[in-house]
Amino acid sequence: MEILDLRARPWKVHSAYTAATVQMGGALLEPFLKKEEREIERDFYLEWARRIGANSVLDLATGKARIPIIFARDGVSEITALDASRESLECARTEIERELSAEDAARITLVQGDMRRFSFPKLFDLATIAYQSFWWNFAKNCRLLFRYYERGPHGKSIPRRVVERTGLLIYLQGVYCVRSVCRSLRTGGVFIVDHPFIQRGLPHVEVVSVGEEWWRGLAHQCRFKILQIDKEFLIAEKL
Ligand SMILES: C[S@@+](CC[C@H](N)C(=O)[O-])C[C@H]1O[C@@H](n2cnc3c(N)ncnc32)[C@H](O)[C@@H]1O
Repeated sequence: MEILDLRARPWKVHSAYTAATVQMGGALLEPFLKKEEREIERDFYLEWARRIGANSVLDLATGKARIPIIFARDGVSEITALDASRESLECARTEIERELSAEDAARITLVQGDMRRFSFPKLFDLATIAYQSFWWNFAKNCRLLFRYYERGPHGKSIPRRVVERTGLLIYLQGVYCVRSVCRSLRTGGVFIVDHPFIQRGLPHVEVVSVGEEWWRGLAHQCRFKILQIDKEFLIAEKL
């Protein structure tokens, strides 16, 4: 099973995407995902795929391809699983080969790319960002901000304009991701974000806060209609 490289240019893989993190992420995820929860999650995604008659699905920050495996088992014809990390995709490949028949596995395409900037030559019916993975859009720049403060001259704080610019950069990452998703969906296509609200304190920036208002602003800008929004899920339809 081949892993396609969709990166515009090879970038130095950020330490957040190393094998250790993937393993740790997997290990952290497993105990939280009880059998019943997995079943509820599976039924939820399948119900949406069936409701809109999805033939093609794009799963972003796919990790070990948990969600693509669910869709492939249910007979969805084309599933694209994107992740920034080669290590994640290697784990995904192993899981797919272990869990699925060769015929089902062949319907999944593994792609190395950045969920904040991607484009495909075709449009998808459904896009998913499962299990709190939307947060990863912001992770890298939050680290950048932490680093600024750690290295501040003699412990003095960094000028406010730098803080503001970096803060803005953090929010932009989410905007880029949603824009890329909307560009990749057909009209009437649906996207689902698990845990769309993020609130996290950072030094000198009160909180990184992505809430309902942020999504509603973006809906207008990127032309999508919010079908459901709460702490659990954002479900939106491309207009
Ligand atoms: C919690 S894990 C994936 C969980 C997976 N969605 C699931 O439901 O099982 C988060 C994944 O996001 C990936 N990731 C982080 N930043 C990314 C980015 N900018 N673009 C694509 N993938 C990214 C990491 O490599 C990691 O595999």
